[in-house]
Amino acid sequence: MELAGKHIVLGLSGGVACYKSAEFCRLLVKAGATVQVVMTEAATEFITPVTMQALSGRVVCTSQWDAATPNNMPHINLGREADAIVIAPCSADFAARLATGRADEVLSLMCLARPRDTVPLLLAPAMNREMWTHPATQRNFAQLQADGAHVLGVGFGEQACGETGDGRMLEPSELLDDLIAFFQPKLLAGRSVLVSAGPTFEAIDPVRGITNLSSGKMGFAIARAAREAGADVTLVAGPVALATPRGVRRIDVRSAVEMLAACEEYAQGASVFVATAAVADWRVAQASDQKIKKDGSGATPTLNFVENPDILATLAASARARSGSLYCVGFAAESHDLLAHATAKRARKNVPLLVGNIGPATFGQDDNALLLVDAQGATELPRASKLSLARQLVAAIAGRLPAATR
Ligand code: CTP
Repeated sequence: MELAGKHIVLGLSGGVACYKSAEFCRLLVKAGATVQVVMTEAATEFITPVTMQALSGRVVCTSQWDAATPNNMPHINLGREADAIVIAPCSADFAARLATGRADEVLSLMCLARPRDTVPLLLAPAMNREMWTHPATQRNFAQLQADGAHVLGVGFGEQACGETGDGRMLEPSELLDDLIAFFQPKLLAGRSVLVSAGPTFEAIDPVRGITNLSSGKMGFAIARAAREAGADVTLVAGPVALATPRGVRRIDVRSAVEMLAACEEYAQGASVFVATAAVADWRVAQASDQKIKKDGSGATPTLNFVENPDILATLAASARARSGSLYCVGFAAESHDLLAHATAKRARKNVPLLVGNIGPATFGQDDNALLLVDAQGATELPRASKLSLARQLVAAIAGRLPAATR
């Protein structure tokens, strides 16, 4: 229920992408929002108001001349009630009309009449690739951005017309994620955040290896929350099958050694490093190039181990971290005595903030509880979804960042 309490005016202008708006409307309602749909006449050629009414549970507004509105001013009433107006799809023609301040039908009229300081306008462009790249269209969207609208991205791919390129409307789930992110405070705007997540996999031979039960969910949630907070985010992920959060740069790695190399590279430009990865402590000293076979005698292979590099401790000891330009946050997965272990680990890894959690209680789950330990003491973040905790942690990090990271 990420949008509980939010009232969204969903505007549809004319385009094939209107078929996606039905699904988007459904997702908004499922996320807890109330939705008022407004359609241009062209939009009603692509999808019927009946469908949108059924999905939103409200009569769709299609005309400024509808006598059913007591004061006959739907363009004023609807815009005043909204927490945001989202135009999806926003056609090239509709953008042109908005950019020039036209108001000859109810949707553009409502957008022009909206209180700009309190009701944000989000536009989800949808059009053929030639129309999208046309200088006139680009000029119009640049103008709309300058006028205070928030222009969402477009997708790349095959288009309804049969051509391939940029200009597809984002998928409904992407629109939903972007809208949810839009409402989050931009606590890390202009910052670069590096997150390590998931397990590592240490090869024994080409078909076997040693790994652990980390799901990567907490790290992925932190990457998402940091991105929602406006940061440029790089996520260095061990082998997990999770979807990459919107707008996050993902670097897939397998072993601890590969994870260290990727983290060292991306830490160069980062102002925050959050180490959530469950890095294997040891790797097999001499992984075999060939599959190790049974020889029939019942003899078992002997594996020798060497210690893996400690990624967090390495980055925390780097010049950038020591000068205060890189703020390092460690995680501790413990089974007992959380405060004592987290406090000791914070000192041992030499990081300003250490986040403790009870490992067995959270592995693979969608919720967790955290204990934040810094120089001032410990703060509990009670059990909640990993995304909710990630947002609280991002706020806690933002509030602790030294000036040198700005
Ligand atoms: N970590 C790391 N590289 C390693 C081991 C751990 O970056 N080789 C990071 C983890 O991502 C986490 C923190 O260090 O942020 C704590 O890891 P943990 O394995 O819990 O601690 P250890 O130092 O291994 O201590 P112990 O096994 O005794 O609990």
